Amino acid sequence: MSETVERTRSDRQWWEEAVVYQIYPKSFFDSDGDGIGDLAGITEKVDYLDALGVDAVWLCPVYDSPQADNGYDIRDYRSIFDTYGDMADWERLLAELHDRNIRLVMDLVVNHTSAEHEWFQHSRRGESEYADYYHWRDGRPAETADYDTDDGPADEVAPNNWDSIFGGPAWAYDEERGQWYLHLFDESQPDLNWENEAVREDVYEMMRWWLDRGIDGFRMDVINLVSKTPGLPDGDPESGLVGAEHFMNGPKVHDYLSELVAEAIPDDEILTVGETPGAGVEDAQRFVGEDGLSMVFQFEHVNVGHEGDKWSLEDYSLVELKESLARWQNGLADEGWNSLYLSNHDQPRTVSRFGDDGRYRRRSAKLFGTLLYTLQGTPFVYQGQEIGMTNAPFESKSELRDVESINFVEEAIESGAAESYEDVRDAVETVGRDNARTPMQWSDDENAGFTDGEPWLKVNPNYDAINVERARADPDSVWHYYRELGDLRGNRDLLVYGDFELLAPGDEQVFAYTRTLGDERALVVLNVSAEPATFAVPDDAGDDLELAIGNLNALETPGSTVELDPYEARVYLTPATDTDRPTTTNSDST
Ligand code: GLC
Repeated sequence: MSETVERTRSDRQWWEEAVVYQIYPKSFFDSDGDGIGDLAGITEKVDYLDALGVDAVWLCPVYDSPQADNGYDIRDYRSIFDTYGDMADWERLLAELHDRNIRLVMDLVVNHTSAEHEWFQHSRRGESEYADYYHWRDGRPAETADYDTDDGPADEVAPNNWDSIFGGPAWAYDEERGQWYLHLFDESQPDLNWENEAVREDVYEMMRWWLDRGIDGFRMDVINLVSKTPGLPDGDPESGLVGAEHFMNGPKVHDYLSELVAEAIPDDEILTVGETPGAGVEDAQRFVGEDGLSMVFQFEHVNVGHEGDKWSLEDYSLVELKESLARWQNGLADEGWNSLYLSNHDQPRTVSRFGDDGRYRRRSAKLFGTLLYTLQGTPFVYQGQEIGMTNAPFESKSELRDVESINFVEEAIESGAAESYEDVRDAVETVGRDNARTPMQWSDDENAGFTDGEPWLKVNPNYDAINVERARADPDSVWHYYRELGDLRGNRDLLVYGDFELLAPGDEQVFAYTRTLGDERALVVLNVSAEPATFAVPDDAGDDLELAIGNLNALETPGSTVELDPYEARVYLTPATDTDRPTTTNSDST
């Protein structure tokens, strides 16, 4: 990191300057031919991560789990899912990463456990110590409720009308205990009762146990769902997700999070990123301010274009996307810090969602890489994004593996909203989570070089053209462009700490902004459209600038207007100083 301009914040954090790479272990690399990725497979690829130039890995859950939700249903927080390996494999991975100065961030899933977790087993038997570890309630007499639930005794319905995020009611009836338990996700994922201090103590102790093993941070799964409105009242029946006002950003969420940080996080060196669906900028200011998290994963920008629920996605408006991102940039500029992401294991692939996964696939993949690395915040790259992987075709329901997508298809058919899979196929192929989870495309060998066995989820048939081997051999590839972006960001404080200012907010084609730090300035101009565009550079924005990186051959300095080809991206910077790395240009025809 260059020291040419003192950063204005009083202290620097490694995680502000880092690029984080997200690994979905099931789909990354299979070392033993069982068709499922594993820890030894990730260890084989640490040199790959090093070559890409990432500074940290966020590893999705690798804990012992029945895998109803691919590991987000944990049976034992202190052991490894045996298909992925064992604790020794995990330790080897950590050591290999640390040898290369790559840090490791583990997934922390504590809103819920698996129903197979021993706490739930004790709890469903009503054993006193664990009786209140989960949210247990008696049912409601059916005649007093204006909703239906199929489960449980004939004359009862669930205790309230809340929806599960994975479809259907948020309650399941347990025969053994003779009561209902709350599950905001699948019924095999009962919600922990954070009102119970013993639950919180157990969570903090488990976190300290992992920190003692040398990890560098936690990504905190749906952490803003842990507090529920006392009494668990009915939600607004007209709402898209009934009950959300009682379980998203609930009344004690800040108490619990600040307690968690105080009890389990020794210092700011530990990266803590809270996944916070439904949180607005003001909520986030508190999460990263008084509560003490490093940053949050917010959802507003990935939700642009969704009308109502997750499954109905319209073309998004660039103006709306810019407005949303700018609000977060500005809202967390002075207090706090942003995470930056465009895809992950729950979202569609970036080029399919925001760019063009056909004619302009490479160009739009580079354009969105440019956005990711030049906004203020910590970029998170999801596996495969660095080669421009795309959404996949799913020809029948039997090709799906994701519990959420399968529930959606089944419910659509049961409720009569769809006659067959064909009627919902488009929605699944547009937003279903399996799109992001198809195996990593390493080469054009069988199964994309991911496994010698039968892959647990189909490989995207485009692997012969889109794969790591090919991308690394081609200097104009998305992969090399990501590497160069990483170098550029790593060498200029400006791109990490500089102030953000959105230009031309109403422009429907061009996403343009400046970053400013002391005398240094960056101008980023992105044509987010398949048509040529012209951008008028504001008077004070263009002086002294030189092209630092772009996805096409471009002029070295911006004039008063910039003419952009479809999906063209350019980053102009004030000239590099002695300690800065030389600037680069990357050209690419499509
Ligand atoms: C988060 C995870 C997702 C999981 C859910 C329940 O949203 O990212 O994959 O299904 O929480 O744990």
